[in-house]
Amino acid sequence: MATLVTGGAGFIGRWIVKNLIQNGKKVVVIDNLSNSIEENLKEFRNHPKFKEFVIQDVRNKKFIEKLFSKYNFNSCFHLAAQIKVQESLEYPERSFENNVIGTYNILEAARKFNTKVILVGTCMVYDLADSNTPISEEHKIKPTSPYAGSKLAAEILALSYYYGYNLPIVILRPFNTYGPFQKANMEGGVVSIFVKRKIKNEKLLIFGDGTQTRDFLYVEDCADYIVKAAECEKCLGEIINAGTGRDISIIDLAKLIVGDEDRIKYIKHHHPQSEIMKLICDNSKAKKLLNWEPKTSLEEGILILENWIRKSDI
Ligand SMILES: NC(=O)c1ccc[n+]([C@@H]2O[C@H](COP(=O)([O-])OP(=O)(O)OC[C@H]3O[C@@H](n4cnc5c(N)ncnc54)[C@H](O)[C@@H]3O)[C@@H](O)[C@H]2O)c1
Repeated sequence: MATLVTGGAGFIGRWIVKNLIQNGKKVVVIDNLSNSIEENLKEFRNHPKFKEFVIQDVRNKKFIEKLFSKYNFNSCFHLAAQIKVQESLEYPERSFENNVIGTYNILEAARKFNTKVILVGTCMVYDLADSNTPISEEHKIKPTSPYAGSKLAAEILALSYYYGYNLPIVILRPFNTYGPFQKANMEGGVVSIFVKRKIKNEKLLIFGDGTQTRDFLYVEDCADYIVKAAECEKCLGEIINAGTGRDISIIDLAKLIVGDEDRIKYIKHHHPQSEIMKLICDNSKAKKLLNWEPKTSLEEGILILENWIRKSDI
């Protein structure tokens, strides 16, 4: 039986594909390439376990059902989503259609074929952390953008399939993830953007005062947690966070990457109302249930990323 990865040509998705293939799993990928390129999967295209790459949209319900009936997947990692916060504020319909309707289509097909769904949510659904108490799964929810709202709606819908139809579901909330293959343009991840600007000898731009903090998770650690969650029987119906348990302000991240404060420039925040000022993960549930732990420090991850950006010239 094969495993489906939606959004599998994307940044985190392609690392899940890699992890699954390395673990001997047969993989099918669906992606509409709205935020990625087929190149991201080049490494696996001729691998015997890589069954098919379908350029299609999770909003296409008929197609999704056809795909599930062709493969009768044992599990589906659902990552396909419109991920841009700024775009979600400008065009909320896109978040709703891709993230909610898309998830509904996956859940409906999964219900027909009794496929386990590992729903990749986000830490962006949480309210800011209070002082130094890391954010556990019980922390207050505060979706401050249609991106966060649509991802939360998708989670709730998935939980209703767990309780209402006994469909095997696991909900994951990774914290900010970074590493090779993440976009480094203005819509990409902050670590990639900063490293790329360092390489190009450009100033690092910080939105707002830079005191907002993030808990940065290296992408292979993130993929490891997501794949482990699919194999965990005790995780059905659970929501599980993952992060490192260490947060860093955006100013300190910039300093860590370029060293010199003269290379940092502060600019006006586009959407201060949607900024979460402090994000730090309590990962004790993931540690306990999945026997998982992040292996890569931020310093190590930045080095890997910098080498990759220099080589791949993205
Ligand atoms: N990057 C992070 O820091 C982070 C943190 C927490 C959660 N997440 C979640 O992880 C998932 C993957 O995020 P990512 O950072 O790899 O983003 P990404 O944009 O690189 O990956 C998403 C993929 O989904 C595809 N896609 C979008 N809409 C689609 C549709 N309607 N049909 C088919 N494919 C579609 C895109 O082309 C892209 O390849 C998302 O669900 C996101 O919400 C990301």
